Amino acid sequence: MEQRPLGRSGLTVAPLGFGGNVFGWTADEATSHRLLDAFVEAGFNLIDTADVYSAWVPGNQGGESEAIIGSWLKARGTRDRVVIATKVGWELAPDRKGLSPAHIRTAVEASLRRLQTDRIDLYQAHVDDHTVPFEDTLGAFQDLIAAGKVRAIGASNIAAPRLREALAVSAREGLPRYETLQPEYNLYDRAGYEAELEGVCREHGLGVISYFSLASGFLSGKYRSAADAGKSARGQGVVAKYLNPRGQAILAALDAVAARHKAASAQVALAWLMARPGLTAPIASATTLEQLDDLIAAARLRLDAEDVGRLDAASV
Ligand SMILES: NC(=O)c1ccc[n+]([C@@H]2O[C@H](COP(=O)([O-])OP(=O)(O)OC[C@H]3O[C@@H](n4cnc5c(N)ncnc54)[C@H](OP(=O)(O)O)[C@@H]3O)[C@@H](O)[C@H]2O)c1
Repeated sequence: MEQRPLGRSGLTVAPLGFGGNVFGWTADEATSHRLLDAFVEAGFNLIDTADVYSAWVPGNQGGESEAIIGSWLKARGTRDRVVIATKVGWELAPDRKGLSPAHIRTAVEASLRRLQTDRIDLYQAHVDDHTVPFEDTLGAFQDLIAAGKVRAIGASNIAAPRLREALAVSAREGLPRYETLQPEYNLYDRAGYEAELEGVCREHGLGVISYFSLASGFLSGKYRSAADAGKSARGQGVVAKYLNPRGQAILAALDAVAARHKAASAQVALAWLMARPGLTAPIASATTLEQLDDLIAAARLRLDAEDVGRLDAASV
């Protein structure tokens, strides 16, 4: 399996990451473990989660996804085969949020405990916290790296000027730098990343691991009418956001390219991301083994210039 570097961290990953926000939400523990088994069996290694997953599910409080990954790591003894990426900063409670050194120090211990491991490979700032100087946040991350609890750090949901500023602070102060960016990026949502962030990442050699790579399932092509919202617990939101003339034009282009390759639309959507210069690994999730087969097959699908041109024309 091809391995791609996560910035200059020394970590490498196969070109597709598994998104863990479904664990404890649309995939129960047993299903989640089967999905992780199949993902690793197919040669992939990047697993992405966050301390806050899946707090939005009634009855949950956050940490459910990490705990499910932790029980899988322990049961299967797979820790050394995978790259575990998790995040800190999203609000868990009014007094448990953001990127202050105190919150980071508490949050990392909770994540390590739930993950049943002694180290997090990639620890990501889930949000941009304007109330804490970068020096303080990066200093806290430096301490965790020195203690061996974290191997590398990354950023998510940050604007280009702020990412530049963080990188400048790291260089100036001799602090660890964000080695990766996790932006929302897919065939439908392009502008937010392509306008400026993509240039910053390429200039500084950051790894890019995109989220919502399938636009929450829309790019699989299973939502074609309002009635299709019933196909998933998250269907209502997907239809409301993406089922419009632009979304339909993108689905039509995906259909055409998929037919040419005898592939599924989800495969084409992910292959388009994997072919994007500077993009390290799209993160996507699946809730069944059949869906996961499409994700896995995407890594073998090579799009040519005609395919990419057709997808670009429908989505820019
Ligand atoms: N940094 C951030 O702020 C942030 C925010 C959001 C997500 N993320 C990361 O990105 C990951 C991916 O996000 P996501 O799971 O929300 O979105 P996604 O990858 O765009 O969509 C995945 C969903 O699409 C459906 N699907 C997948 N393959 C399919 C197939 N072959 N055919 C039909 N449907 C298919 C499944 O949902 P159903 O079966 O329910 O339809 C699956 O859970 C997350 O797990 C998380 O790690 C990060």
